[in-house]
Amino acid sequence: MWTLKPFLFVLTLASSIALAEPDPASELKSLHFFRDGRGMNLSPGLLDHLESFRHRIQGTRLDETVLQTLTKRWGLQSVGGELIGLKNVSYQNLSVGVVGCVACHSGKAAGQHIVGIGNKNIDPGQIGIDGVNIESLFREFKRFSGRSTPEHREIEDRSLVLMKKLADPRLSAQTQGLVPVSLVGSWFYEMAGRPLPEHGFKGATKVPSWFGFGEKLKVGQFADGIGQGHPPGWIIGVEITAGQTPENVRAYQHEIERAAELIAQLKPPRYPFGIDLERAERGRATFEKTCAKCHGTYERDVADQPIYKEPRMVEWEKVGTDTDRLDYVDASFLEVVRASPLADLIQLSPYAGKRMWVAPRLHAIWARFPYLHNASVPTLRDLLEPAVKRPKFFSLKNAGEKSRFDPKNMGLTRTSRDRASATRNLLGGRNRDIYDTRLQGQSNQGHEKGTTLPATEKDELIEYLKTL
Ligand code: HEC
Ligand code: HEC
Repeated sequence: MWTLKPFLFVLTLASSIALAEPDPASELKSLHFFRDGRGMNLSPGLLDHLESFRHRIQGTRLDETVLQTLTKRWGLQSVGGELIGLKNVSYQNLSVGVVGCVACHSGKAAGQHIVGIGNKNIDPGQIGIDGVNIESLFREFKRFSGRSTPEHREIEDRSLVLMKKLADPRLSAQTQGLVPVSLVGSWFYEMAGRPLPEHGFKGATKVPSWFGFGEKLKVGQFADGIGQGHPPGWIIGVEITAGQTPENVRAYQHEIERAAELIAQLKPPRYPFGIDLERAERGRATFEKTCAKCHGTYERDVADQPIYKEPRMVEWEKVGTDTDRLDYVDASFLEVVRASPLADLIQLSPYAGKRMWVAPRLHAIWARFPYLHNASVPTLRDLLEPAVKRPKFFSLKNAGEKSRFDPKNMGLTRTSRDRASATRNLLGGRNRDIYDTRLQGQSNQGHEKGTTLPATEKDELIEYLKTL
């Protein structure tokens, strides 16, 4: 009988390979909605130039410098020298560099690249500031070299408009890893033919986790649950901001549904280091007593995969975190959303404008630091401290690399740079990779939950959170 074993093993292996579904993560990696020359793109040829330049200098210090600029300055992730979320698409014989969803919706934690967590360093504001210069220079260069065609110029013009939007101080954050909701919001004001609001709120938000999105859709999209789940039109928010037309969006509506399905299929990555299961089990009891009434409970199915559940909505008063994001959603915003030419696809949920938060489901929470919607708290242990004791500044440099992962406190390590940069920031300089909780929308106030637990119970709670 024993001779059959290897054979059976090969058979099961073969059938599991044959039955394996296409991996949603790899499909999502190439997802973008650049259509008919519109979407999130760079000037035609620009990425080609960059790539061929990098090819020529491959393996040299200069290539490292270029890569460092793109990763450290713009926050793009690189895996094995390849930039994530940036690719060439051919359109009308032009080669156009397109920015995909995973430029923001994938990131690293403890050195591991994960599709479905937010990019901790992405910096649309810096991309915009540099992009305006690069795009302007590049178009001069092409006109000079006589390689510009009318289609060319149209796409070029639109990508310059996008860069200007990204650089607009009303629509950009001052810190890496934050994307203001006012950026997408601006499209609705444009469509309504109204000027941008003067209230000054921007609603800077970190890029949220995608795990359990199918269940979340049943409640509401975004940090405040503002978006109706079906149809899931909100998810192309950045594309419409980038110049997509309503007609285009309608033409690929089924692809948006498909994207929502793929996103819902993603599975959270396991905590990559050891877990003390006994302490974690004690931590579970603490969690269920102290946290579960908002964050729910967590179970796994027979295949040991997490069972996704609907998140709960919580009134702002019950957590008291920074209000800038909620303040952006005022009566005039709701009005322009309801009046938009895509009002049938991009709808408001019953929670819109109610000043409530979604209490996020905590799958792969070990990888989702810095914590809270505005990424203002560097570790879970800091989140379990009263706000006055949380760090006022912290460094985001290499935030996703292994060297910056602190398994004890779960989140970012403290660095000597934190304090030095704090002083520099106080003196007026601004480092976009230093998180400064004094900036608008970046306060680390609120969510003082579990702060009075004894130290051992906090340790156990953190151990439990590693299992989610
Ligand atoms: C510039 C960065 C950026 C890009 C590019 C981007 N997103 Fe997002 N996305 C965000 C941010 C920030 C939020 C959270 C906004 C909020 O809650 O206020 C978000 C929210 C979402 C959500 C809602 C998650 C939830 O918890 O409700 C989905 C789904 C989503 N994006 C899908 C996409 C898809 C699909 C693409 C590609 C077409 C894309 N995003 C491109 C930044 C980005
Ligand atoms: C009263 C409801 C409530 C309770 C109780 C509560 N939370 Fe939360 N929690 C929230 C809400 C709402 C948010 C989102 C707030 C925000 O981002 O501004 C949140 C955010 C978080 C986040 C950040 C998630 C992310 O993606 O950054 C973590 C981690 C967290 N809670 C852990 C806990 C733990 C651990 C406990 C128990 C000690 C707890 N919470 C108790 C409502 C609650």
